[in-house]
Amino acid sequence: MEKKPFVNLEQVKEIVKTYPTPFYLYDEKGLRENAKKVKEAFAWNPNFKEYFAVKATPNPYLLKIFKEYGIGCDCSSMTELMMAHSLGFSGEDIMFSSNATPASEFQYAREINATINLDDITHIEFLEKCASLPEVISCRFNPGGVFKMSNGIMDNPGDSKYGMTREQMFSAFKILKEKGVKHFGIHSFLASNTVTNEYYPKLAGILFELAKELKKEVGVHIAFINLSGGVGIPYTPDEEPNDIYAIGQGVKAEYERVLVPAGMGDVAIYTEMGRFMTGPYGCLVTQAIHEKHIHKEYIGCDACAVNLMRPAMYGAYHHITVLGKEDAPCNHKYDVTGSLCENNDKFAIDRMLPKIDIGDYLVLHDTGAHGFAMGYSYNGKLKSSELLLKEDGSIQMIRRAETPKDYFATFDFSDIIKDLI
Ligand SMILES: Cc1ncc(COP(=O)(O)O)c(C=O)c1O
Repeated sequence: MEKKPFVNLEQVKEIVKTYPTPFYLYDEKGLRENAKKVKEAFAWNPNFKEYFAVKATPNPYLLKIFKEYGIGCDCSSMTELMMAHSLGFSGEDIMFSSNATPASEFQYAREINATINLDDITHIEFLEKCASLPEVISCRFNPGGVFKMSNGIMDNPGDSKYGMTREQMFSAFKILKEKGVKHFGIHSFLASNTVTNEYYPKLAGILFELAKELKKEVGVHIAFINLSGGVGIPYTPDEEPNDIYAIGQGVKAEYERVLVPAGMGDVAIYTEMGRFMTGPYGCLVTQAIHEKHIHKEYIGCDACAVNLMRPAMYGAYHHITVLGKEDAPCNHKYDVTGSLCENNDKFAIDRMLPKIDIGDYLVLHDTGAHGFAMGYSYNGKLKSSELLLKEDGSIQMIRRAETPKDYFATFDFSDIIKDLI
């Protein structure tokens, strides 16, 4: 299947008159249509709620759009909690799924009444000491071993730092019950970027069985099961996109198989999707500013790994469209690079693309999740702006580009570089 960007050359030429490259662009129409589909896919579960994984795209303007669809926030840190709270998300609209959590973050989460998802059994005592235990709490489960589905090994929970073992889940629920917790949730995240409709149903089956046993053995009320994130997107043109309706129906079948006969038909299904909610609806637009011909052919861009780290960090594939050359033959092999003094600062290696000329605009697809957010500041490079392509075709800046002042701001206590601050 061909990957078409949601923006064309004419639009980008217009945008750069006001906002120079590089910039992130988000597609409001795509974000809204997808949010609606997610709601519809799980409408069979009356208390279904998606808690958008804020870490994927921590932009308040996007969180506000999601809020219109009843979507809450899954936060993993103090600043994410602060952003959600400031936007008017109420306690029950905020899930706090963190790990190695500092006391101050638990304290703040309790203050704003966020639902806490405990990563470890030792966090019960930690939370009780630093704040207090709430009436509703969730625990994160890690079954260990390898996680397999019909198409092979998906991931390796046995090697992952998250969650509690099965035995610990039973102990944790017993302790929490004794300490007065009234309603419980179960959370698990077993595989990332699953491009198959089977992942959530399979995970749901595992968690529903566990919930049934926990209810029977510990005698607790299981209020919700949180399937967390992990629903993937097709980064490469040959992958088949997930069908969220099929996924919703798959989870429903497991619900009816396991929970309904156990008298647990009141359990709410929660999700914490990030990538699936924003990934395809964001792109990074950058300009080719150099070409270099040595042992290989290089195109140097004005964006770098500071703006998009996934290729450098995971060797992740992001499809590239050279705007205006959509139909040109891909008969040139390039490494497409950024400007960092790091040889892994490459958006693509040995990629067949149309002939690129200096000044061409490149769209890096599917960067709407875990893209801008992962940025760092190596080489003193600055983060780009984030723009929203509105449904009416207009552009709204939803984050300005950093300036050198932002980079130097943490020296504002000092007078040795006063002139830069
Ligand atoms: C606790 C938790 N929830 C949700 C997500 C979102 O995952 P994804 O973007 O794969 O949907 C993550 C991703 O790291 C996570 O750690």
